[in-house]
Amino acid sequence: MSYVPIVRAENLALHFDQNKTRALDGINVDVGEGEFLAIVGPSGCGKSSLLNLIGLLDAPTAGEIYFRGQPYSAIRDPSLFRRKHIGFVFQSFHLIPTLSVLENVLVPTIAGPASISASRQDCMRSARSLLSRLGLDGKLDQFPGTMSGGERQRVAIARALINNPDLILADEPTGSLDSSNAAQVLDLLCEFKREKGLTVIMVTHDADVSARADRAIHVRDGRLDLREEYREFI
Ligand SMILES: Nc1ncnc2c1ncn2[C@@H]1O[C@H](COP(=O)(O)OP(=O)(O)O)[C@@H](O)[C@H]1O
Ligand SMILES: [Mg+2]
Repeated sequence: MSYVPIVRAENLALHFDQNKTRALDGINVDVGEGEFLAIVGPSGCGKSSLLNLIGLLDAPTAGEIYFRGQPYSAIRDPSLFRRKHIGFVFQSFHLIPTLSVLENVLVPTIAGPASISASRQDCMRSARSLLSRLGLDGKLDQFPGTMSGGERQRVAIARALINNPDLILADEPTGSLDSSNAAQVLDLLCEFKREKGLTVIMVTHDADVSARADRAIHVRDGRLDLREEYREFI
């Protein structure tokens, strides 16, 4: 069988302000199933833009992304696609302050027009089990505002995993954490990646983080920097 990457970006461009700002300017990249890819580069080079396009949070000005060969432009319900296939982790957690830990984790399971069919009880069971794995047993009814950054990011990881995604997109997930919490969050993401065969695409400034990735791609001014570093798969 021929090789089909989980994500393929072809000639991807994202321009703003009538093409004056070229956040992305012709990106070509393949991401393999089960790969941990780090995206690195200076501030403003287009890392978040690339992740947002892969996460269907924005649409490209030009180019195409394929998910297991299926073009994004043919996806009819991006929100359902995201819920089924993609988990997101952000630098500033993006938890809902008025919802408890358990409720935050359950947010992606709330069915839209087309349900993804797990029963309420199954979702609840998965959420409790994930939170337990993440060391948050006693915190289910707590609110995010009362928790440390490391704890909040672990809640966000549980939320990202609740629908059993194929792909985790993480935008500087350790950027707001001290080094010990950063290491713990990275360990947990690597553990889940191995266990569940997840693909992880992570934007990072942190050399310790990119050193753990299978491969790092360098972005500069909206383009891939040719000094790519290839690493052995873990
Ligand atoms: N919604 C937007 N409108 C205008 N310019 C934007 C927008 N989003 C990003 N940009 C610009 O695109 C470039 C890349 O941004 P971004 O992808 O956030 O970079 P990074 O994540 O690498 O710091 C920057 O110059 C940024 O100012
Ligand atoms: Mg960014």
